[in-house]
Amino acid sequence: MTVRVGVIGAGWIGHEHIRRLTHTVTGARVTAVTDIDAARAEAAAAPVGARVYASGAELIAADDVDAVLVTSWGPTHAEHVLTAIAAGKPVFCEKPLATTAEDCLRIVEAETAHGRRLVQVGFMRRYDAGYREMKQVIESGRIGEPLIVHCAHRNPTVPESYTSAMAALDTAVHEVDVLRWLLDDEIVSTQVVTPRATSKRFAHLKDPQIMLFETAKGVRIDLEVFVNCQYGYDIQCEAVGEEGLVRLPDPAAVGVRTAAQHSTEVLTDWVSRFRDAFDTEFREWIAGLAAGAEPTGPSAWDGYAATVITAATVEALESGLVVATDLKPRPAFYGGAA
Ligand SMILES: NC(=O)c1ccc[n+]([C@@H]2O[C@H](COP(=O)([O-])OP(=O)(O)OC[C@H]3O[C@@H](n4cnc5c(N)ncnc54)[C@H](O)[C@@H]3O)[C@@H](O)[C@H]2O)c1
Repeated sequence: MTVRVGVIGAGWIGHEHIRRLTHTVTGARVTAVTDIDAARAEAAAAPVGARVYASGAELIAADDVDAVLVTSWGPTHAEHVLTAIAAGKPVFCEKPLATTAEDCLRIVEAETAHGRRLVQVGFMRRYDAGYREMKQVIESGRIGEPLIVHCAHRNPTVPESYTSAMAALDTAVHEVDVLRWLLDDEIVSTQVVTPRATSKRFAHLKDPQIMLFETAKGVRIDLEVFVNCQYGYDIQCEAVGEEGLVRLPDPAAVGVRTAAQHSTEVLTDWVSRFRDAFDTEFREWIAGLAAGAEPTGPSAWDGYAATVITAATVEALESGLVVATDLKPRPAFYGGAA
């Protein structure tokens, strides 16, 4: 069965995912596109023979749409996801699920009332081969119980529009999701320490930031977010356990020896770093839908947790205090610990 996908939001990542669903993933076809910018919708729809709809609501209701992909601006996500749930259609929502905890909870309540999982949130790191191997090692017990995790998320530069709050909301949000999943544990408090600021930043920005998270089991996580590090896009993660440690591998790269030096390239953008993860994420989403299964990827609850934890981290940055995340109790509907 070919899954017919309708795409809401034909901007940068909407285009990427339309290309992915058309050329990389088997079993899917993009049949419908909408965007508040009609020209963008047309430009995305025409090459793949999709129909353009005037609004998200019309696209979701369309007979030739089996599943919905939301790639519009964050503040519009909740409305589209809730409409898809009301129509009983599976919906993949790029992060964030919603920009407020209240909207995330409305989605959780609507999906729970529906009685079957429909929502998946676009946290693609769970599909990265390195993170998956780390999870297998942790779950096998080879390093014993995890105690500490050291992470770094570094970008070469960011534009002037990037704010200090975005370090948590847009950058660290990926670590927040992948660490909850890796450790099968919940983040219960957050704190932000700001070291000496780099001179290579716009003056309004606190960069770098060190985020300190504590989990329900007492694991301590330190995450360096450094978005003007200059040298490359670099993601590091090392979990230290009672009997050993496991470290995220760097992307494969050839070693070059010349002029009395040995070097390997460092990537400079997240698109190349996580391209394979995005492909796997969509392959598994489409394969599950084609088989009539519920989605197994990041859930609406994970989307809620990420929004709450990153908002608490912004509060911690602004107040200088340790902030409790105060998540609601996890509904049994979503299983697991985190
Ligand atoms: N998983 C990731 O690593 C990742 C990476 C990039 C972007 N994203 C997320 O994807 C989303 C889109 O990001 P982007 O970089 O493509 O942004 P973008 O601005 O390039 O595109 C967003 C598009 O949505 C359209 N739009 C806005 N409101 C709409 C509505 N109500 N209905 C229909 N269309 C609407 C805009 O006109 C625009 O074309 C954001 O939530 C972003 O956080 C996730």
